[in-house]
Amino acid sequence: MFITEDIKYVGVNDHQVDLFEGQYDVPNGMAYNSYVIMDEKIAVMDTVDVNFGKEWLENIKEVLGDKKPDYLVVQHMEPDHSANIVTFLEAYPEAAVVGNAKTFVMMEQFFGPISASKVVVKDGETLSLGKHNLTFVFAPMVHWPEVMVTYDSTDKVLFSADGFGKFGALDVEEDWACEARRYYFGIVGKYGLQVQKLLKVAATLDIQTICPLHGPVLKEDLGYYINKYDIWSSYKPEDKGVLIAYASVYGNTKKAAELLAQKLEEKGCPKVAIADLAREDMHECVEDAFRYDRLVLATLTYNADVFPCMKTFIHELLERNYQGRTVGFIENGSWAPTAKRVMTNMFEKSKNITFFENSVTIKSGVNETTIEAIEKLADEIVAMDK
Ligand code: FEO
Repeated sequence: MFITEDIKYVGVNDHQVDLFEGQYDVPNGMAYNSYVIMDEKIAVMDTVDVNFGKEWLENIKEVLGDKKPDYLVVQHMEPDHSANIVTFLEAYPEAAVVGNAKTFVMMEQFFGPISASKVVVKDGETLSLGKHNLTFVFAPMVHWPEVMVTYDSTDKVLFSADGFGKFGALDVEEDWACEARRYYFGIVGKYGLQVQKLLKVAATLDIQTICPLHGPVLKEDLGYYINKYDIWSSYKPEDKGVLIAYASVYGNTKKAAELLAQKLEEKGCPKVAIADLAREDMHECVEDAFRYDRLVLATLTYNADVFPCMKTFIHELLERNYQGRTVGFIENGSWAPTAKRVMTNMFEKSKNITFFENSVTIKSGVNETTIEAIEKLADEIVAMDK
């Protein structure tokens, strides 16, 4: 695949992976992207996952023919991109490895001493390949501390490491935003501040193509993608709407959650999403919590606490710095409902979280009193749209 006349795609699609990074469902697989820049000096940008070394080397060989690469640029040491460094150096022992000081510390931790020559770059430093000049911009914690992105000023290409990536192999057509959002909040969500810093640097560059390490190469309407990243990394809600996330054992809490959803729709709430936390993909739920400006958490009380999947969900939000949203509660408890208090306390260190004044307490089953409380909560939620 040609990215530009000199830049070729040599990545691979993975349809074998069951859980990406040990926890994310990837029903449409995953792509590990890698690129070759052909110039007086030839650079290969990153390697691929451990299971695809042979296919990747064949892709490189197809582009290079009898030529040999001069550099392997390592932008990120996470093994989905670095696992084949040694395999590459066995095939091309004369190539030099380009990274920063932190890259080489991790490289030795993963692989032991590396015999190849090393080019240790500093933030902002440029490496000339001949016609192409590669400038390295450090992007710590997007998504590990050694990460750097690379700007090719000749073809105006930003090699963006994990940034602008998405779940899904490249041979499957699907909407970008949905799986890019789930990927972003799953993997980089905690590091919004660092992504914002990177976007500020990116804004100073003339970028015509973004080459991420996962997902499609982005060439058109780059403002759309950059705007999404700006919204996500600044923790602003992307859309007006409500996610109702519930945990229910015997169906009573579920009934209240569904009743609230129905009332919100009747009252004209612009978007109502509802999720059964025990059964739906947890990271889809996390994605929706960040997407909308309002969240309602509905759970039974369990061991004087909240039901386990609700606890996991709130932890998933907190560890990604969930903030700037309005949160409401539906609790259930047959003898001592304490879930609302527990959940409120869980958010005590979160920035800019407001709670709805109205909440719903179910004592076992939904009755007239509960329905009245749901009505009041629904009115308060939709009042935010006026
Ligand atoms: Fe795709 Fe952070 O590795």
